Amino acid sequence: MKGARSDAIVFLGGGRITGALLAGLHRAGYEQPIVVHDRNADKLRQLRRQHDVQVEADLHRAVEQAHLLIIAVRPDSVRELLQKIGQLDPGQTHTTWAISLAAGIPLKNLRAWMDRPLRWARAMPSPVARSGRGLTAITFDRHFPAAARREIRDFFTRVGIVLEIPESKFDAFTVTYSSSHGYHALAALAGAAEKLGLDRKTALTAAAHALADGILGWRESNISLDALLHEAATPGGISATTLATMDQSGYERVIQQGLRAGMGRAKRNAKR
Ligand SMILES: NC(=O)c1ccc[n+]([C@@H]2O[C@H](COP(=O)([O-])OP(=O)(O)OC[C@H]3O[C@@H](n4cnc5c(N)ncnc54)[C@H](OP(=O)(O)O)[C@@H]3O)[C@@H](O)[C@H]2O)c1
Repeated sequence: MKGARSDAIVFLGGGRITGALLAGLHRAGYEQPIVVHDRNADKLRQLRRQHDVQVEADLHRAVEQAHLLIIAVRPDSVRELLQKIGQLDPGQTHTTWAISLAAGIPLKNLRAWMDRPLRWARAMPSPVARSGRGLTAITFDRHFPAAARREIRDFFTRVGIVLEIPESKFDAFTVTYSSSHGYHALAALAGAAEKLGLDRKTALTAAAHALADGILGWRESNISLDALLHEAATPGGISATTLATMDQSGYERVIQQGLRAGMGRAKRNAKR
C-alpha cells in the first residue's frame, strides 16, 4: 500500500468515546481527515453513516494513513493492539506520535508495549465532548515535540476545555471527571423524590434543575461555593436540615469510598 495518505487522525476502536468525539468534532466543523478502525464491521458501517468519516477494517491500512494515532480500545485490549501494530512493517507507520484514551494505562506501559520510537500522550475526555462542552485532561511524554503538543491541545479544544496535568494526577482526574457522576446524582435525587410522591417527570425536572442550575450559577458567578451553599441553605431551614442529615449519614464518606475504588480499578488497569 505504498503511497497511501498519512495525514489522517486515526482512531483505533470505534466505540462509545470515539462516537462522542466524532459527533463533537463534526459539530465543531473539524475538517482534517479522520479514519476509524474497529474489529466490528457493523460498528464501522454505523460510524460512517452517522459521522461521515472514513472507516478502515484493516489495521495495517488504518495505521499507515495516520498522522496521529488515537488508541480508543478498552484498557484490557490495549496491550494486544499495540503489539499487533509493533509487528507491522516499520515502513507502514509514518506517525511518530500517538494518544491513548485508555483509563489507568501509564505512559511507561504504552512505550513498553509498542516496539516503535513513538512519542506518547494520554488524554481523558468524556462523552460530553458530543455537545462541545467537554473537558479533556492531557499529559505528554517528556520529549513530546512542542508543535505536536499544540496540535493535540487544539484537537481536543474543538470539543471543550483542555487541562494539562501531570501524569501522577491522571487517575484521580479520571475518577473525578466522569459525566456518569452527574447522571448518577440525578438518578439518585429524582429516585428519592419519587419515593416522596412526585411523579417521575416532575421528580427528574426538579432534580435536574437543582443540580444543573446550581452548578451553572456557581460556574458563571464570582461567588464562592461556600457562599452559595450558605445562601441556598438558610440555617435551621429545610435545605440545611436535608444536607446535614445527608452528611451525618455518610454522604462524603460514600463519595470518597467510590472514588477510592475507582482509583484501585485504575491501578489494576496499569498492571495488565
Ligand atoms: N466511554 C467513556 O466515557 C470514556 C471516556 C474517556 C476514556 N475512555 C477510554 O476509551 C477507551 C474506549 O472506551 P469505550 O467506552 O469507547 O469502549 P468501547 O465502547 O468498548 O469501544 C472500544 C471498541 O474497540 C473495539 N476493539 C477492542 N479491541 C480491538 C482491537 N484489537 N482491534 C480493533 N478494535 C478493537 C471494541 O470491539 P469489541 O466490542 O468487539 O470489544 C469496541 O468496538 C477505554 O480505554 C476507556 O478507558 C472512555
